[in-house]
Amino acid sequence: MATINDNYLKLKAGYLFPEIARRVNTFAEAHPEAPIIKLGIGDVTEPLPEACIQAMSKAVAEMGDRSTFKGYGPEQGYAWLREKIATQDFQGRGCDIDASEIFISDGSKCDSGNILDIFGNNNTIAVTDPVYPVYVDTNVMAGNTGAVNEKGEYEGLVYLPITAKNNFTAEIPTQKVDLIYLCFPNNPTGATATKEYLQTWVNYAKAHNAIILFDAAYEAFITDGSLPHSIYEVEGARECAIEFRSFSKNAGFTGTRCALSVIPKTLKGKAADGSDVELWKLWNRRHSTKFNGVSYIVQRGAEAVYSEEGKAQVKRLIEFYLENAKIICSQLQAAGLTVYGGVNAPYVWVQTPTGLSSWDFFDKLLQNCNIVGTPGSGFGAAGEGYFRISSFNSRENVNEAMKRITEKLKF
Ligand code: MLT
Repeated sequence: MATINDNYLKLKAGYLFPEIARRVNTFAEAHPEAPIIKLGIGDVTEPLPEACIQAMSKAVAEMGDRSTFKGYGPEQGYAWLREKIATQDFQGRGCDIDASEIFISDGSKCDSGNILDIFGNNNTIAVTDPVYPVYVDTNVMAGNTGAVNEKGEYEGLVYLPITAKNNFTAEIPTQKVDLIYLCFPNNPTGATATKEYLQTWVNYAKAHNAIILFDAAYEAFITDGSLPHSIYEVEGARECAIEFRSFSKNAGFTGTRCALSVIPKTLKGKAADGSDVELWKLWNRRHSTKFNGVSYIVQRGAEAVYSEEGKAQVKRLIEFYLENAKIICSQLQAAGLTVYGGVNAPYVWVQTPTGLSSWDFFDKLLQNCNIVGTPGSGFGAAGEGYFRISSFNSRENVNEAMKRITEKLKF
């Protein structure tokens, strides 16, 4: 019989969101009449921007015509898309990033997991607590951790607590780590990072030859002009950071699939023989061996995000979800709850009322208000006592959800 990757057996029972879906389905089966509103998983609800729809329709027509038909595209993505990203997302913000350092992919979740393919198994890895579970689970799968303890922490990982006390921004570790996952605007807490704060991480990473894996999937939600959108706005980041970005949350591509990773050519890792190796080369090799590129149609849709109409339409989508977040924050505060995030970020991080654990609060909201959120403890031990509410939904559902909470629950 074939043997398996035993690391999978170390994983906690279910990935957080399927586990929530399982509980919600059980509730819905028992209460088929319950008008459930889902503010759990951060999945967009609003239709694609018109500019993207038009670009993709045109691309479909091209694929249906022998003279414009396309087969395999470049694994790294079409040059016309990479150029637009390089000039508008990066160079336009003063970041020294070249189109050849951008790799188009089908998702930041996939990229943040797949990136481990190019790193060794002997790195010390730091994650925040709470954290986007993909960073942890993919390290478990790759064999970079030991067993899980009763708190849900994996042996071998360095957990950096993020709480109200440190404004949900991790303190620089006192020990040496090799890989650090940072996510800003943060999933799940909605916290943001200043340029000065990111500079302290870049300084740390350079001093310790560490690599920062910077997840900027929610950068489009930054409206405060003083906050950086990219780690490359920080001096020295080209020597120590990889950045992940996505079209999922700005242009509503969660079901369309398009994202990108930036690997500067100046970024190096150590080989077993002690030599320095360009990470770009390894990722290029990995990408072109294990991936055949995002579809032409979808890349044309992503390109339209950079047109004048596309930019205006994306801005309206972001404003729409940010207004939802504002409504959620003000209504929950009115209900007596303490809330964080929800400004420059689509997630609202709610402190659960005294005496209620994250899962107790999940059950209370589901049973009393038929509302689904995400228990903070699902993002890590330090997330206990918190609850995440996503602003990705229709205005009607957000208003209705907040009405139910303010009318039915008193804290
Ligand atoms: C979330 O709810 O945390 C997001 O949907 C995660 C993701 O985009 O994969």
